[in-house]
Amino acid sequence: MTHEAYSKDTASQIIAGFDGRPEMLVQILHGFLERFGWISEDAIRQLAKELNLSRAEVHGVVSYYHDFRTEAPGQHVVKVCEAEACQAMGARELSVHATDKLAGKDVSLEPVYCLGNCACSPAIMVDGKTYGRVTKDRFDDIVDALGETR
Ligand code: FES
Repeated sequence: MTHEAYSKDTASQIIAGFDGRPEMLVQILHGFLERFGWISEDAIRQLAKELNLSRAEVHGVVSYYHDFRTEAPGQHVVKVCEAEACQAMGARELSVHATDKLAGKDVSLEPVYCLGNCACSPAIMVDGKTYGRVTKDRFDDIVDALGETR
């Protein structure tokens, strides 16, 4: 799952894919999210202009849905599964460890609820790749292998 940098042209294409209909705003925002990974201020400005809505209206919808992240994601995205099977295998401690380990790095840490890897819990996903039976040491190895994380 890689995202591309925001571009006005791509954004216009996504909007055009929904015929520029303001009532499709939520779907268009999902399109933006899939493509760019987050909803920037530039994106909000463009949406307001092209859909003929006020910026406040677009902002309102973006802030209503928690899915619509308004900060750029880190260079890498680490998701720690916090669903039941993984919790039973220490996912909560792993999350605490991950928070410490990733502090100050350009990595987004997000909870996720089941990665379909319950047989090998606790499970994590790093930049779209799933890892199972992740101990704290293994977590450190995986994250260290990501290389430069500013
Ligand atoms: S509960 Fe964690 S992968 Fe299913």
